Amino acid sequence: MDIHRLDQTLAALPWIKYRFFSETTSTNDDVLEWLQEGCSEYSLVIADSQSKGRGRSQRRWITRAGSALAFSLALFPVEKEIERLALFSPLGALSVCQALEKCYALPAQIKWPNDVLVDRKKVCGILSEAWWHADLLGGLVMGIGVNVSRGAVSGKDLMQFPAISIEEVAGNPVDRVELLVAILTTLYHWRPLIGSAQFFDYWRDHLAFRDERVTVHVNEKESASGFLRGVAQDGSLEIELGSGRLASFLIGDVHLRSGDESC
Ligand code: BTN
Repeated sequence: MDIHRLDQTLAALPWIKYRFFSETTSTNDDVLEWLQEGCSEYSLVIADSQSKGRGRSQRRWITRAGSALAFSLALFPVEKEIERLALFSPLGALSVCQALEKCYALPAQIKWPNDVLVDRKKVCGILSEAWWHADLLGGLVMGIGVNVSRGAVSGKDLMQFPAISIEEVAGNPVDRVELLVAILTTLYHWRPLIGSAQFFDYWRDHLAFRDERVTVHVNEKESASGFLRGVAQDGSLEIELGSGRLASFLIGDVHLRSGDESC
């Protein structure tokens, strides 16, 4: 990444304070540490590569130098947002989705709750982690990983879920600094709208696998299949079961699988 350009470009976003590492363990860990030292909202850590990048459900997230965007942000949800903490990862997904639409005219979609897909393949994953002091929320770390070039997606990743890079779907080279700024600006725009009608309209309009048959896995033994109908006000996933009953599944409780995915 061109550090000089990164510096100049981020100077246009005065609400951002950032640290860049050419290599780190995990940018989420870096921001968790920074939160404990005392940092301001929208403190950002960007890394060119991560040796211990983390994904959801204790999965590894591989970030190879020069091929991806890997960054984490410190956020301090206010009281009314704390009631909607589960909507923060979808907020990240909405922002990435809209940035991809705007910058590259890509038909991006959101796989509930917070993966971003293009052509039904994953281009971005989000891991949000809350830092609690006893019962008080000390801050939230939102970590975003985007597959920018082909090198970001290995055969091993492809076996876990269908994945692709932005350059492969856009057909052109992608400037990582430009993409980063587009995501940050979009996120800054959506943040006050979290949980609003506009937020849910955008989410529902960009929901992947809508009206398709999907399976939700509650754990290794329990699952339910049905038609994906939408998302509820608390962010839960609505599935129409065989009986015609609409069942809701809370964020964090289940894993969604489309017909495309192996388990
Ligand atoms: C997932 O899809 O499972 C979530 C992946 C999140 C990866 C990002 S990359 C930046 C940040 N640092 C990490 O260690 N993880 C997140």
